[in-house]
This record gives sequence, C-alpha cells and structure tokens, in this order.
Amino acid sequence: METILIVDDERNYLVVLGAFLSELGYETITADNAPDALEIVESTDLDLVLTDMKMSPMNGIELLRRIKEKNPDLPVVMMTAYGTVEKAVEAMQLGAFNFILKPFENEALRQVVEKAVGAYRLLKENRRLVDALENLYRFDNIVGKSKSMQAVFDVIRKVAHTKATVLITGESGTGKELIARAIHFNSPRRNKPFVAVSCAALSETLLESELFGHEKGAFTGAIAMKKGRFELADGGTLFLDEIGEVPAALQVKLLRVLEDMRFERVGGMRTIDVDVRLLAATNKDLKAEVEAGRFRKDLYFRLNVVHIHLPPLRERTEDVPLLAAHFAKKYAREAQRGEMTVSAEAMRFLCNHRWPGNVREFEHAIERAVLLSQGDQIRLDDLPKNLMGFSDLELPLEWDRLGSLPETLDAIEKRLIQKALALSNNVQSQAAKLLGIPRNNLHYRLKKHNLV
Ligand SMILES: Nc1ncnc2c1ncn2[C@@H]1O[C@H](COP(=O)(O)OP(=O)(O)OP(=O)(O)O)[C@@H](O)[C@H]1O
Ligand SMILES: [Mg+2]
Repeated sequence: METILIVDDERNYLVVLGAFLSELGYETITADNAPDALEIVESTDLDLVLTDMKMSPMNGIELLRRIKEKNPDLPVVMMTAYGTVEKAVEAMQLGAFNFILKPFENEALRQVVEKAVGAYRLLKENRRLVDALENLYRFDNIVGKSKSMQAVFDVIRKVAHTKATVLITGESGTGKELIARAIHFNSPRRNKPFVAVSCAALSETLLESELFGHEKGAFTGAIAMKKGRFELADGGTLFLDEIGEVPAALQVKLLRVLEDMRFERVGGMRTIDVDVRLLAATNKDLKAEVEAGRFRKDLYFRLNVVHIHLPPLRERTEDVPLLAAHFAKKYAREAQRGEMTVSAEAMRFLCNHRWPGNVREFEHAIERAVLLSQGDQIRLDDLPKNLMGFSDLELPLEWDRLGSLPETLDAIEKRLIQKALALSNNVQSQAAKLLGIPRNNLHYRLKKHNLV
C-alpha cells in the first residue's frame, strides 16, 4: 500500500482529504505544520507529499525545498488557493510534481495523486531493476534472472577455468557470442587472444586456409605465407561460429586437428602444435543435422563436451524487464541522457512480443526508443511500429484458395485487431495506438468483425 503525507494547517482539510485518499486505498499520515511534516519525511517511507502552500511558521515552498534536499525523488504536490498561482510556478521550478488549485473536485485530486504515485512507483521499480542488475542477475554483461539463464551462468562458472570444449546453441540473436566471450574472459586464458571465425559464407578452400593458414604459393593467389586462426589463437580461445556450416570434407580435417591440436598449413610440410581452447556455436539443431547425415557424428561428440543452450527470448519473458532496464541504461548513457524508465504500457508490449530476432532485435528496439523518447520515459509510441508485424500473425487463410481481395483483407484486418487487443490486454485505447488508428475507428471495426 502506498503512503501519502498530507500537510495543511486547516484541520478540516486534513480530515476530509485523509478520508478520501484512504477510500482510494492509500495509507495516509497527516501533519498540521511543516516542521512536523519534515520529521515524518525523515522517518517514514513515503510515496507522496500533498501540501498546502500558505502555512506558518514554515510555508509550503520552504517545506518543498527542504524535502527535495532530503529526498529529491519523492513527489510533492502543492495545494494552492487563488491568488498564489505565481507561487505555484515557483514550486514547479523547485521540483514540485504538480499543483492543484483549491477548492478542487475529488476527481481532479484523484488524477493528480495517481499520476504522481504512479510515476514514483515506476522510478522505484526501475531503481530496483538496476540494483538487481548490478549484482544478482548478471554475469559480466550478460543479463538474466530466468531459471534457464541462471543455469547458463552456473555452467559458465563451472567450465570457464577448464579447457573443455563448449558447444553453444540457440536461435539467432540469443547471445551465443556473448557467452563465448564470457567463458574466455573468465578463464586463465583471458590475457591471450580470443579469435572468432565464422564458418559460414566461406568456400571450403578459403575456410581451410582461414583456419590453418597457408604457405606462400600453396594455391593461386597465395602470394605470401599466412597464419591461420588456430595459430593466431595459440594460448587463447578459438570460437568457431556457425559450426553447422562447415563443409563435409573439412569436418574430417577439423576432427583430426581437435584430437591432437597439430596440423600443417595448406601447402606446407611442417607440423605446427598449438594450445587452443575451442568453443563452437550454431543456430542449427546440430543433432538433427547429424541424423540427416549432414554433420559428422564423431565431430559432434567432440564438440559437444559441454552444451549450453540459450532459449529464445519469448520463452524467458522474466528477463524482459531486466534487459529493458539494462539496455535503457546503456543507451541513455551513450546518448548522455539521464535515467530512463519504461512505461507500464510499453513494458507490457515488450513482454508480449515474440521477438523473432531475440535479444539483438530487442536491444535495437530499446536503443531506438531511447533516441525517440521525449522525456525520461520510454512509451508505447517510442517502440517500432513494425513490431506489430505479420510474421507471427498465423492468418486463418488458405493461400491456395484465396477469396476476393476484400474478403482476404478483411480476414487479415480481423487478425491484426485481435493481435493488437491481445498485446494490450484488451485496453482499446492502447490497441488503437498500436494499430495507428483513432479509437472511434477501432470501435467501428470491432463492430464490423463482431469482436464486441
Ligand atoms: N543475456 C543478455 N544480456 C545482455 N545482452 C545480451 C544478452 N543476450 C544477447 N545480448 C546482446 O544481444 C546482441 C546479440 O548477441 P550475440 O551476437 O551474442 O547473438 P548470437 O546468438 O551470436 O546471434 P547470431 O546467431 O545471429 O550470431 C549482442 O549485442 C549482445 O550483447
Ligand atoms: Mg553470433
């Protein structure tokens, strides 16, 4: 329950306001003078101070100034009578959250109070997340409180100091390279090189010479001797990314090298010994590749000594608020902006989205939102509109038997509206925002599709 301190030298006001705010579900404390109020501010965990302006011996402005010295974040709402509006402006400049003109309607007060308390709640929630980030739920710069990520941290702690080969699997953007680096930088090899090679997009010959190097004249174009990545990683860690793409012939050679860590450069005679810790990653299901005969079983077993699987972000939504706080902090700092929070609306959307591009896509969305946001809060409007995409819409259409254009468009429209409603927990104003249409337009379409 949130606690509000009410300060007014008119006792009647204290009674009436106290009763009204209690009815709204707040705990209330009252003080009929500013010095008492200050003592309460110091000794109590408050969520809002609602204070009158004209009081003696200390007036509301002075009280505000003192409160802000003690606790700059605690919101203060000023109650001002007619004729003291200039004072209200001064109060705003001193950091009051808002002011309300006396006499006021209960409804007006309710709105101001809810806004102030809500904003403070969000700020505290954000602080809490940042605190959690700073200790419990992170490993280096890897963030996660979900069971699966905590288990990943445990494995890293256990195997980092060993020389065990680790196979890291997971969809694109789940953080495979980040994990590989964490293993290296937490190992005794941290001061030696971390060398990453992508096994995709290179022909067999090029990949072979990339890995093992070549002698001068080994093939056309080999105008000078070149060391391979195995040699460059000597003493350190070699990270073979997209290992599932290694061509069959090279898989044999790779296996042989991994067995005894010796090889010859392409076109060379001399055997080279290296001391390399091997990490590998793939977004393919390597076991299925083995079963399909596309990946050698013996190489698979050689790589899969320790297995770390990173689940897609949509399967660990507990991590979303932490990741949001982490990236909001990172990009706010980069943009030299102050602390940023994420609005409840935006957070709900972030948690419900499927994130096909996983953490990478998520990170870009937050980076962009930080740049677009006007104030110190990321709102629903700051998130990319194309997140509301078709990719995961599961259209109830049979594409080989398309109906007329209007029928087809109607079906798509209906699914989009249903998705927007689901993403916004059936709050129509938010759904309309996501869809980029006015609220009354959404009403019309809901009726049209029998969705109300
Ligand atoms: N748990 C996490 N905490 C913080 N940042 C993360 C986390 N997971 C991923 N990231 C960030 O997301 C981005 C993508 O991560 P990374 O490049 O490691 O993914 P990947 O699995 O290697 O993707 P791909 O298969 O496409 O190569 C990076 O900027 C990384 O720092
Ligand atoms: Mg990668």
